[in-house]
Amino acid sequence: MHIHYNMQLKPFNTLNLDATASHYVKIENIQDVQDALAFAQKEQLNVLILSGGSNMLLPEHIHALVMHMDIQGIEKCAEDDASVTLKVGAGQVWHEFVLWSTEQKLYGLQNLALIPGLVGASPVQNIGAYGVEVGEFIESVQVYDRECQQFSSIVAADCQFAYRHSIFKDHPNRYIITHVTFKLLKQAALKLNYGDLKAAVGDEQTAENLQQQVIQIRQSKLPNPAEYPNVGSFFKNPVISTQQFDQIAAQFPNLPHYPQPNAQVKIAAGWLIDQAGWKGKQLGVVGMFHKQALVLVNYADATLADVQHTYRAVQQDVLSRFGISLEPEPVLFDETGLIRAHQPVG
Ligand code: EPU
Repeated sequence: MHIHYNMQLKPFNTLNLDATASHYVKIENIQDVQDALAFAQKEQLNVLILSGGSNMLLPEHIHALVMHMDIQGIEKCAEDDASVTLKVGAGQVWHEFVLWSTEQKLYGLQNLALIPGLVGASPVQNIGAYGVEVGEFIESVQVYDRECQQFSSIVAADCQFAYRHSIFKDHPNRYIITHVTFKLLKQAALKLNYGDLKAAVGDEQTAENLQQQVIQIRQSKLPNPAEYPNVGSFFKNPVISTQQFDQIAAQFPNLPHYPQPNAQVKIAAGWLIDQAGWKGKQLGVVGMFHKQALVLVNYADATLADVQHTYRAVQQDVLSRFGISLEPEPVLFDETGLIRAHQPVG
């Protein structure tokens, strides 16, 4: 285990925020997890878990031990007639794992192709796209539980997976995910219900073609972080009561919406931001992408303060126009390396 001091984290977060960590270590195995935690305790440092950096907001100076998860490996644990169970290291690149699974003729994850980030972060916000959420294919998550000070395995039923949510969000500084165990299907059951996916897939209804179409749709809509630094959707799609929805829809009948269980409705944040005039609009060096208003882009050398300036202005405008508070999707860290709740708008 090698500790680096004053490490620049700009290359490790896809929004390219300038952020320096007082202490940084790469984690390649379970022993490294224990050694790093012992070091942090000795030095009285908080610990910040860095994965693919594609969903985080970092301050300029971080006084903490950044643990950069790089545990590799894919291990087959079980197989039956219908499925294969795989334990995958938290440091595997998500998209490469999806491509690999398709090559192995293992199905389920194809709708989630091209999502940035690493496997270990996938259960945290229960990544989802095109009608699939990763929680549907997770059997268990292997963690180091900092509260109980032991390694353990949390079965999917206990992970409380929901839209962009899991137990790992409820207990932000408690678990260090080392591996994720997936149960993938031998027979493809294509999910084509989302938007224009069915039309894109056409007559060639194979998992391979589905994956290819998802890649193409994402590439056409979402900016490549290498060109336009971003964290994907910057806000969650708000879930509101049917009653509130009916009031808003009376005024804005075109508002895209998706009925949810328990008399709730999910509405499209991208549409709200677009209608509030923010599509392609910048405030300083930070703005909302011209092809997809839901994606915030760092166009130059933005700091967290610049990003906050812009997204608070977006939140304010959407609130004034529609009475809806948008909640940011990326995780916000403070200068001591701890996860902090976003300030409510208004
Ligand atoms: N819309 C606009 N203007 C815009 C953007 C969107 O009017 O600038 C409208 C679209 O026309 C559409 C609706 O808003 O009617 C929804 O837009 P879209 O289909 O692009 O999907 P989304 O709700 O914006 C969600 C996820 C994405 C995921 C896609 C596909 C969230 C917050 N975002 O986006 O996830 O890829 O669906 O499933 O749930 C991510 O989380 O980083 C992410 C990219």
